[in-house]
Amino acid sequence: MKAKKQILVTSALPYANGPIHLGHLVEYIQTDIWVRYQRSIGQDVIYICSDDAHGTPIMLKAKELGISPEELILETKKQHEKDFKEFFVDFDHYSSTNSEKNKELCENIFNKLNAAGHISKKEISQFYDNEEKIFLPDRYIKGTCPKCKAPDQYGDSCESCGATYSPTDLIDPKSILSNTQPETKKTDHYFFNLKSFKDYLVEWTRNHKLQDSIKNKLNEWLNDNLNNWDITRDAPYFGFKIPNESDKYFYVWMDAPIGYISAFEEFTKQNKKFKDIWINENVGEIYHFIGKDIAYFHALFWPSILYGSGYRTPTNIFCHGFLTIDGKKMSKSRGTFIKASDYLKFFDPEYLRYYFASKLNDGIEDIDLNLKDLSHKINSDLVGKVINLASRCSTFIEKNSNLYLSDKLENEEKYNDFIKSINDISLFYKNRKYSNAISQIMLLADKANKYINEKKPWSLNDSNEIQAISTQGINYFRTIVILLSPVLPELLKKSENFLNEKNLVWNDYKKPLLQKKIKKFSQLKKRILDEDIENFKNELNAPKTLENEKVKKMKDEINYEEFSKVDLRVGEIIKAEEVEGADKLLKLDVDIGELGKKEIFAGIKKFYNPDSLIGLKAIIVVNLKPKTMKFGTSSGMALAADSDGKIIIINADKSIINGSKVK
Ligand code: 2FM
Ligand code: ZN
Repeated sequence: MKAKKQILVTSALPYANGPIHLGHLVEYIQTDIWVRYQRSIGQDVIYICSDDAHGTPIMLKAKELGISPEELILETKKQHEKDFKEFFVDFDHYSSTNSEKNKELCENIFNKLNAAGHISKKEISQFYDNEEKIFLPDRYIKGTCPKCKAPDQYGDSCESCGATYSPTDLIDPKSILSNTQPETKKTDHYFFNLKSFKDYLVEWTRNHKLQDSIKNKLNEWLNDNLNNWDITRDAPYFGFKIPNESDKYFYVWMDAPIGYISAFEEFTKQNKKFKDIWINENVGEIYHFIGKDIAYFHALFWPSILYGSGYRTPTNIFCHGFLTIDGKKMSKSRGTFIKASDYLKFFDPEYLRYYFASKLNDGIEDIDLNLKDLSHKINSDLVGKVINLASRCSTFIEKNSNLYLSDKLENEEKYNDFIKSINDISLFYKNRKYSNAISQIMLLADKANKYINEKKPWSLNDSNEIQAISTQGINYFRTIVILLSPVLPELLKKSENFLNEKNLVWNDYKKPLLQKKIKKFSQLKKRILDEDIENFKNELNAPKTLENEKVKKMKDEINYEEFSKVDLRVGEIIKAEEVEGADKLLKLDVDIGELGKKEIFAGIKKFYNPDSLIGLKAIIVVNLKPKTMKFGTSSGMALAADSDGKIIIINADKSIINGSKVK
């Protein structure tokens, strides 16, 4: 028997500033299928991932939400982990790049690179937003393309003519944060000397079995002049400080891939077998699954950084294309930006896994999601051919032999012929040609159904014969489920239960299930209905209210002077009553001490019994312009908080004198 291989697998680390969407899932599902396949054939695999928690966008998003970046990344990580779990993406460990371990490793690698002469310091000029007091990343500057003069283009490249340039080349550049013209400002940055790794990278590219398209792209980059890589960002920035610097940080793309190592180390403190995998290639193989857009980081910077600091490099990097929806890029305005959590409200996660598998191969072409096509594949292939096979055979076997399988197959030769293509299917999985694997498996499903149709067990009288035919059919089903198990782990589990078995692995198809009692069939998968698709589309197109957002957006900033105009006083509610004809309002009489009494209408009827409000000391905006409505005039406002959809009036201490100023 061959020795087990040690394999470390990673998927790219998703940024911690947004939800997981179906575009992300192409990669995680692709990787998870590969990992499950490798495990099923008996390899020793560790699958690691992490949130990519640093950088300007995360810092600014947190600011916009009025929370700290730490709070934002914590909340996002929880949501990411939940989404992955629900799609059966089964990491051994999921970390965050904002971890102690990652900080330590990042500094350590930087120090090693520095000591080996791979880091240099250089003064550069960069755009600076004087209003926001921040150096601007290229994507935060817009202006007119210097080449084709298209307006409104980002600071790094033109979406209209494809030109790439530096932000200082833009005509009439503006900061997208303040819409002001940025200044150029000088600053010292650290650079990783990528240029000196050119020969190494040429060799590395030659010696690794990268995908052809990626190899070609790399050779193109390597034939051009490589630029040294700027790994510094100035404060304010959310990231790790560069050792011995007070206001300089590692660029997120420096600490993110190091997250692969730190997450691995967090997980494997005790794991002797994998222990030295990052320094010794003989220990095992390392594979990174990534999108084609980040090949540059993974195939140029990353191997150089690893090599330059004494680590081994990945065995291979597997790139995939993007997801389009109905042939177009995912778009919020078209209602095709589909969050993982929205999809799950309507469809089975395994349907997406099956659909992606049926479309994925080892190339970097984009794959398209079309809901009609999804429903067709699920209904006619998965439910129509696979699930139906189990349901038909179990009916015969239940009626005929009380769910007992026969002691041998009806036609062993036929079964042996059936399993002949399994070696090919195995290779398809291994080489990430999942669409070929699925096509082959569906051919087997056709064969199995044809067998039942030809044998017509429903028309026979010989009970032994019916039992043997059904047993053959059930074993066809069992084999198909094993072959689909990397894609459909939940179906495997439910089928194991139906077959009264546990922990089926790839090679179990070689030992058919005989002479055993199986369970009564219960529905394993449902068909997708047209109305499911309709409801889903409606949900995607429904306007999202603020209430739907988990973390609420902050309103525009106001300055101190604006705030000081608001006159807040403590007022005692002395009367509260319902308003005839108004569903939401209560009328409150409030005693504001020396300022007298005010009548206020508040939209809190749903949350309070009027009597319970009497005597409550609230905080009142007393200088709000009176507002006349159908039921009377409201001449102030009681401060209240929206807590998870419930509106609660904010209470002041009972001992405070009515009319006191709130400071
Ligand atoms: O492109 C991205 O979404 C990055 N967050 C991927 C990082 S992968 C790795 F290098 F950390
Ligand atoms: Zn242009």
